[in-house]
Amino acid sequence: MLIDIIAGARPNFMKIGPIIRALDEREHGGGRLRYRLVHTGQHYDRRMSGDFFSQLGIPEPDVNLEVGSGTQAEQTATIMVRYEQLLMDAPSRLCIVVGDVTSTMACAITAQKLKIPVAHVEGGIRSGDWTMPEEINRMATDAVTNWFFTTSATADANLRNMGVSDERIFFVGNTMIDTLLANMDRLQQPDFWEEFGLAPGGYLVATLHRPSNVDEARHFSRLLSTLGDGARGRPVIFPVHPRARKTLADLAALPKNLHLVDPQPYLEFNYLVRHAKAVITDSGGVTEETTVLGVPCMTLRDTTERPETVTIGMNEVLGTDPRRLREALDQLFAGAWKKGGIPEKWDGRAGERIVAALEHLLVTT
Ligand code: UD1
Repeated sequence: MLIDIIAGARPNFMKIGPIIRALDEREHGGGRLRYRLVHTGQHYDRRMSGDFFSQLGIPEPDVNLEVGSGTQAEQTATIMVRYEQLLMDAPSRLCIVVGDVTSTMACAITAQKLKIPVAHVEGGIRSGDWTMPEEINRMATDAVTNWFFTTSATADANLRNMGVSDERIFFVGNTMIDTLLANMDRLQQPDFWEEFGLAPGGYLVATLHRPSNVDEARHFSRLLSTLGDGARGRPVIFPVHPRARKTLADLAALPKNLHLVDPQPYLEFNYLVRHAKAVITDSGGVTEETTVLGVPCMTLRDTTERPETVTIGMNEVLGTDPRRLREALDQLFAGAWKKGGIPEKWDGRAGERIVAALEHLLVTT
């Protein structure tokens, strides 16, 4: 029985790895599910895509829709047209989408319109912030999803509030954390470690790419100088997303202790995070990784769709005002950052639970 696994952009790749591994293991044990890996091509650079496949041992995609860059509507439309053609030529029995990127929504809608059921891994999370394309993607995807594989009790509650019945909700844990735990012993020191004088607990990591932080040069520049000052001379490592690079090119002066580097491969990035004094980010996934690694995290957004990273983990949602960032850095260096724990079922076994549920839903019923 053929199922599609969809991946399109960087934060998808670490989420599909554990599902693929669990499917491969079941196939060796006589399982009947077979998968087709569909890469939409939303991210196409080696540094945003290829490196993740090779480091995480994910097989080459069976199909690449090669959508490339574009506006939200252009990407959505092109993915839909190309995925629809694939499904008409060679239908599958289920479409598994992960996360909240444009590829997630586009493939879910396309499959459901062709009467192919949809499973959404990381379904049900909500920030309530409609200015982010990811929130629209989450709502639209969940509206056409048959089976939800969730990361938290909050996600389950959100789905019940939408009227989703309990038998369609599977609280399985977090596949992104499966990947992190499986790779803890393989994390790799980046080659600039000595060049920038890095030492465990002696530097900060920053990742910013949301339009609200990086699209406006003056605001972005104020955030970066606050980071540079607030770090009290310690190095700040900033792997630069392609979107942020465009604005950075217009900035006059950057703090001397701010080191801009290329987007990092998975093993190097998480090595940096694991040993950092703190992480400053506007990514959602990174707040989950810092939660499990026990690293203080400052989120430069007004909302989060992952509240357990704040209530259980060491993340704080600060908003985008540089003054709040400064206060938080002062608190960090005063040794007053909160302690944290690890959310339920973020234990490295979500992929197995998903495949067990799929076998039950598709093969035995
Ligand atoms: C996407 C996701 C976001 C995720 C982020 C991580 C959506 C709506 N957003 O945002 O949730 O946090 O990925 O990276 O799906 N580009 C390259 N090389 C690439 C890919 C993109 O240079 O391999 C450039 C594009 O030309 C574009 C910019 O980066 O100018 C943004 O890419 P895009 O895929 O539109 O969205 P992201 O901002 O990366």
